[in-house]
Formats: sequence, structure tokens, C-alpha cells
Amino acid sequence: MCGIVGYCGKKPLGISVVLDGLQALEYRGYDSAGLCYAQDGSLVLDKQVGRVQALRDSLGSPAPDSATAIGHTRWATHGTPTQTNAHPHFNAGKTIMVVHNGIIENHAEIREKLSGLGYSFVSETDTEVIPHLLDYYRKKSQNFTEAFEKVLKQLRGAYGLLALTTEEPNTLFAARLGSPLVLGVMDDGAYIVASDPAALLAHTKKVVYLNDHEFVVAEQGEDYEIRDLLRDTSVDRAIEKLDFDANEISKGDYEHFMIKEIYEAPQTIRMATLGRIRPKEGIVKLGGLDSVADQLKYIDRIVIVACGTSYYAGLVGEYLIEEIAGIPVEVALASEFKYRHEPFSRSTALLAISQSGETADTIAALKKVENFGVLRLGVVNAVGSTIARMTDAGVYCHAGPEQAVASTKAFIAQVSILTQIALYLSQGTELYKPLLDELDALPKKVETVLESADAIREIAKKYVNNRDFLFIGRRYGYPSALEGALKLKEISYIHAEGYAAGEMKHGPLAMIDESFPTFAIATASELLEKTYSNIEEIRARKGPVVAVATEGNEHITSLADDVMYVPATLEQTSPLLVAIVMQLFSYYVAVEKKLDVDKPRNLAKSVTVE
Ligand code: AGP
Repeated sequence: MCGIVGYCGKKPLGISVVLDGLQALEYRGYDSAGLCYAQDGSLVLDKQVGRVQALRDSLGSPAPDSATAIGHTRWATHGTPTQTNAHPHFNAGKTIMVVHNGIIENHAEIREKLSGLGYSFVSETDTEVIPHLLDYYRKKSQNFTEAFEKVLKQLRGAYGLLALTTEEPNTLFAARLGSPLVLGVMDDGAYIVASDPAALLAHTKKVVYLNDHEFVVAEQGEDYEIRDLLRDTSVDRAIEKLDFDANEISKGDYEHFMIKEIYEAPQTIRMATLGRIRPKEGIVKLGGLDSVADQLKYIDRIVIVACGTSYYAGLVGEYLIEEIAGIPVEVALASEFKYRHEPFSRSTALLAISQSGETADTIAALKKVENFGVLRLGVVNAVGSTIARMTDAGVYCHAGPEQAVASTKAFIAQVSILTQIALYLSQGTELYKPLLDELDALPKKVETVLESADAIREIAKKYVNNRDFLFIGRRYGYPSALEGALKLKEISYIHAEGYAAGEMKHGPLAMIDESFPTFAIATASELLEKTYSNIEEIRARKGPVVAVATEGNEHITSLADDVMYVPATLEQTSPLLVAIVMQLFSYYVAVEKKLDVDKPRNLAKSVTVE
């Protein structure tokens, strides 16, 4: 889960373009960074442990000029975050340099073969086999492109990689298998290759997405060539135009991307429903599903696959689709789904949910069923991403780029879309119109929740020193509890568990004492009385309780130590309001603990390896 960027052009912008690009990709990994650039016939290298800023400082200001450079920001998989293990990696003569995102699964085998041929290795990484293998095959090839192709055919696993050679200092060699890679085409004949369009957006909106088993040779001032390794053919692919701007990937006046993205929630719901819900006509239009509308009529089971926050959005979708559309739904963790042997009938649809569209486990789940003849649908935020292109049909979230590692607005967009999918698949239910109208009214209610941010911060401050936290909820409150616990875990490092409130007596209650607070989701629902009983069970063990409740609920103040209110809404839309409270609560706890909210330790935004 690293980020890679490369530039070649007439103008000596290589280093600044690569450094700015790496900074934009830091959400993908940030334990070390490095780059190399062509200068006077050689490749100059600089690698630093820590953030891209450390690399920028090391290069000094003004940074050296170069018309060709490649760089990398790392999330260690093989070998600890050290200067030696940082990328780029190189051959003995330092005439070939490589940056890589992904995992070379057969690296040990290749390393052994090359060691036997006298090659020596300096790092613990899987990636280092690539420059040595390029060195080996260059001696057996007409040119570097031929050697590059031969090497790619040796590699197993996942890669988005970039190579530079002193032999062709104005050319980028890039390849993709299972890790995202996009080529940016500039009007002055320059090229930028990156793991994500965010890294090149400041320079061009004209992009070409690479598919698996493809590589591109891009020489500045010449036409680029994409080749398909499997078919051994040239690939002619249209240039696409990016539909978002650089300011969408800047913090603006906010202290962190996370709080900016939380405050985007009202707009996120508006964008997720724009042109799709028509409350007056009482219809939901999902153009992205129209192409498979006939097949959808015969669907009698939906399996949702996803990871992390997207999985919890899927759990809310399960309740919605079953209740509104009457179609049985199963939600599977993508990393487990890949290795299960469950029967599939053609009347089952697989629905993949992903913010980044690049999560390896979710991609693997889609690959698993590609020959099952089942419909593969997607709810994806990143336009043009792998999952978006793998699925037969789907619905984009239109939430704009999400930069903070902790997913917030994407969850809001995903649940808004799943609500629309439930309505779209519904054959009519008494809940249809009220739910459609409520979805339309929700952005205003979310704004009301955001207005209570200060009160939420004051409550959050009281729980900064707690080491454990339990989140409980019933029905739609259950997946909300799971998501709330994940948010607190991943940015505050407090151990937090989400649990179905009804499960308390079957074990978790044993953990409860005055030092173990519980976050109870107690918004209006036909099960509220039962949730009250669960809260009283906790109170009986002196457990502190923080509750989210519906405005006007006075009774809860006698049960909970702290209460955060949301406006009245349907139970089916309550996860969208409750999520804002939990996101703000977690955010303020992490800020109070002075943690790096946007880049929590040990995590990365897009998990592109299994
Ligand atoms: C959530 O805050 C995390 N960043 C993580 O759990 C994330 O939801 C998960 O990795 C799935 O990512 P995706 O939606 O991009 O597939």
C-alpha cells in the first residue's frame, strides 16, 4: 500500500512534480520515502525514513533540477521502515532504479536464483529482485523494453511499478498487475505515472488507466505505448478526463482532512442522491444499474462483499434491502469470502462496496466469481478504479476524493446509495415514500448534528484516558456500533469493540466496570425499551454510559452519563445521523490525544495487498 509517482518531460520539473505527487499519496503509506532522478547520464538517489517532508528537507531547497524522476512513499510489507529498505531499489551499477507498490510473491525464489548467479542484495525487500532481474535480462535483450517485458513475465503477485534506466533517461517504464496505476498525459509532451490521479491532478486532467497485465513505455515528447503482456499486443485506450479539482484534495481551512470530510456530509448526501431521487414523482433512478435492470428482476439473493468501514456500510445495506426490497442479503468479509466454498446460483448478485475501488481483498472476491455467471455490482467512490471497471454495473458515490485514512464521508455516501438501491429494487412497500422523502430531507438534519460538534467535543474530552470502550446497538444501531468502534480504534488507538446490545449478557458484560465505558446507540426505534434494559444492566455494574439519542428523549438522561442528540428520523436513516456523532466523538478524542488523525499508525487508506 505504497504510493509511486514518475515524471518525464522537457521541463526540469521531475523532482518537484514527484515530491508534490508523493505528498498527495501519503495516505497510502508514510513510513519512509525516496526518489531518484536522471542527471548527467547517471541516476541520483535519495531515501529517507519518515514522511515525504523528510525527503524534501534532505533534497534541500531549491531542489536539484531534473527532467526525469521517480519516487515512492512506503507502507512496509517486507522489511522494516529503514533507509535501506526504502525505495527506489537498484542494480549493482545503479543504472536501473525501480519503485514498486504491491507484493512480489515469488521474490524468495527469484532472489535465490539471482544470488546463485552472483547477484548480491542490500535490502530485506521483495522489490529489490526487480532491478537485479532487469539487469540480468538486459544482457539478453535487444533493448530495455524487451528486458522489462521479460521481467514482468517472471513476477507473481501484485505490482504497480516504475523503472528508470540510464540507458533511456527520458523514458518511464511502468507496469500494473493488481495495484492501481494511471498515466497522466500533459500537453507539452510530458508524462506523469502515479498510483492515484490525486498525484498528477495539479498538472493534467487527461489520464489513461492501466489494466492488469499491461505496461506502458512513455518517452517525453513521443507517443506513449501501452502493451498487453498476455496478448502480446499494443493497446489503444482512450484518454479520460478527471472530474475533480485540486482544491478537493486540500484541507482548506480545516486542521485535518478527517474533520473536513466529516463536515462534507450534507453535501455528500446531496451528491449521492443528485439526479437519482425524485421525491415528487416518488421514484429512484439509478442510471448505473439500468443496463442490468432486466437481470435484476430475477435476483433472489444478494451477497455484499467489502472490508472495514465499507463492510459495515454493507451491514446497514443488509437491513435496508431485506426490509425494503424483500431480497435476502448476506454480507461477507471479502478477505474471508475469497476462501469460502459456498454454493452460488445465477440468480445471486454479488455487490462489492469500496471507497478506493482498489482494495485487494474485495478485488479478489470479484475475481473469484468472474466465471460463475453471477451479476457483479459495485458501489464505489473512486471513478475509474479497478473495482469500478471489474463490475458489470454499479453506482458511483460521487463523494469526491477521501484523503483521511479513517473513512467518514464515504460511509455516509455508501449508506445513502444502499438506501437508494433498496428503494430501486423494491416492488413497493409502505416505507417507500417516507424513506424517499426522509433521504431528501436528511442533509438538513446532518447540518443540525454538525452544529452540536462543540458539545460532542466536550464529552469526548472526558473519555480520552479510557483504554477500553464498548459500542452497542440494536438492528440498524448494530452495524452503526461496529462502525463507531472501528472509528475510535483506528484514530485514537483505544481498544473498542462493537457489539449487538442483545449479546451483552452472553459475555461482554463481564468486562464492564467503572473504567470501561459503553457508547450506546439509543435513537428512536421499536427496540428502544430493550436498549434501555441493556444500558441498565451496564449501569448495574457501574459502567459509564455515553448515549446517542433522538432529540426530545428526556428519559435517557437518567440512564446515561452523557447524551448526544440527533434530530428525529426514521430508524432506517438513523445510521446516517448516528455516524456523524461517532465520527466527531472519535475525532475529538484523537485530537485531544494529540495523535496524527489523518495518518494513524500502522494503517493506510487503500489496502492494495491481501
Ligand atoms: C476505514 O476507516 C478504513 N480506512 C478501512 O477499514 C477501509 O474502510 C477498508 O480498508 C476498505 O477500504 P475501501 O472502502 O477503499 O475498499
